[in-house]
Amino acid sequence: RGRAHVALTGGETPRRAYELLAEAVEDWSGAGLWFGDERAVPPADPASNYRMVEETLLARAAIPAGQVHRVRGELGAEAAAALYAAELRRGLPLAAERVPVLDLVLLGVGEDGHVASLFPHHPALETRGRACVAVLDAPKPPPERVTLTLDVLQAAREVVVLATGEGKRAAVTAALGGPDPGTPASLVGDGRVEFVVDRMAAPTGAPTADAGV
Ligand code: 6PG
Repeated sequence: RGRAHVALTGGETPRRAYELLAEAVEDWSGAGLWFGDERAVPPADPASNYRMVEETLLARAAIPAGQVHRVRGELGAEAAAALYAAELRRGLPLAAERVPVLDLVLLGVGEDGHVASLFPHHPALETRGRACVAVLDAPKPPPERVTLTLDVLQAAREVVVLATGEGKRAAVTAALGGPDPGTPASLVGDGRVEFVVDRMAAPTGAPTADAGV
């Protein structure tokens, strides 16, 4: 369709992938970059997901600034969520119930099975009719964040979850075990989720291709 709207994940896992992406793609004219979640901090803060993406991808790829949709965490979670929800609805095609449709959502997964800033058994998992919400009590610091809702994660055309290291094996295994609000990673994508994992994060007994990376 000549365009690709992608929501990037924060955390540490995707850093190398973003560096490789910067080298792999030359023409960014059709790309729209969004964020699956963001911490309620300024963009220069070491905890900012935007800062990590800037260091690994934006600093190395010629992506026009107007195509990067930063969550304005410096305004605080509630205000940032309100602005980001409006931007998502303005910038993306809308499915039923005005749910914005992303082409690809890239997610990491926490050891507790959280994705974006949707944590196990958190009320934000129940949010309907909104594109993103503020989370004020995240168990993973910092506590105040903005996150896409399950509505948006489930409406995306593709969802890819990246996980590395033995600490993620239980979460990946649980995510593949059927929908469970105790493992938010099991609730995304309505079954169309691709898990890209290293050998240590792969469920015991899973077939592993030697990616040679
Ligand atoms: C965040 C991330 C979060 C992350 C997981 C895994 O803002 O913290 O979006 O969902 O993807 O916590 O983090 P690591 O990749 O650092 O293990």
